[in-house]
Amino acid sequence: MVNNYDLDTFKTGMGMASGASTRSNYGLRDEIQAFWSDRAATFDEVPGHEIFSEAERRAWHRLLTRHLGPASGRSVLDLASGTGVVSHLLDELGFAVTGLDWSEAMLARAKAKAAARGRRIDFRLGDAERIPEADASFDVLVCRHLVWTLVDPAACFSEWLRVVRPGGSLVVVDGDFVRLGFGERLIQRLDAIARRWRLSRELSPSLTAELAERHRSILSRVYFRDGARAEDVAAMLGQAGFADIWIDRRLGDIHRAQARHMPFAKGLSRQIQHRYAISALKPAT
Ligand SMILES: C[S@@+](CC[C@H](N)C(=O)[O-])C[C@H]1O[C@@H](n2cnc3c(N)ncnc32)[C@H](O)[C@@H]1O
Repeated sequence: MVNNYDLDTFKTGMGMASGASTRSNYGLRDEIQAFWSDRAATFDEVPGHEIFSEAERRAWHRLLTRHLGPASGRSVLDLASGTGVVSHLLDELGFAVTGLDWSEAMLARAKAKAAARGRRIDFRLGDAERIPEADASFDVLVCRHLVWTLVDPAACFSEWLRVVRPGGSLVVVDGDFVRLGFGERLIQRLDAIARRWRLSRELSPSLTAELAERHRSILSRVYFRDGARAEDVAAMLGQAGFADIWIDRRLGDIHRAQARHMPFAKGLSRQIQHRYAISALKPAT
């Protein structure tokens, strides 16, 4: 068991430090961590990341309650909590929330939001693939938009099984952001034509060209480089030892609420993408 939140130790363990790219052990995980740190400043400006309406907030509450039932003060670990969007949703529902992320810049934003809301959420620095917590530490684990970028999901899911208590729950919210369906490709083509005729608003890119290139390069090397399909993720969770696995694609109310704050084509695409929630239980014995 690793149980160490000391920042310098953590950085050394990850091979992370300023100028880390010059270090011989700088690897894919360090690149991913650095990418998200550089992404932190503008992360919450993007609809689909932070929540822009009460309709969306209520829709997230419904999804989480559908999978987890009443919070009743249970402990939850928000894996890769980022700027704390999901941590705050869980806090609103009455869970005792710990957020774990390996990006200090993301954590700083999450902590600032908790301070602004006057809420006590315990945001910690750590790797969601090697969790610095004892076995069976949490009643519930939740993660949104982490699985697609995991380096070693099979080992990671075993690690998640370790830290959730027997009988406890896991909820994964994610999507396949790589393989576009026919509808999405059609929307992209029509949107490109519409923009040429100035009938559609140009998307102001949420990533600079440099960040977009780093994103593309990282994505080409992670395990789910061909997209994290719900069935594949569910099968791997089963192999790791999770049971009662439920793939839920009823995220329409969330996506419709998000779409109202997006350019038309992006909002339309959002509603037909391969996005899902998967919940699972750790067997009680
Ligand atoms: C797309 S953001 C999602 C943030 C948050 N879950 C949300 O949905 O708003 C991805 C986050 O995962 C974090 N992350 C990625 N891999 C991680 C890992 N192995 N351990 C801890 N954090 C990780 C990044 O630092 C970043 O904050």
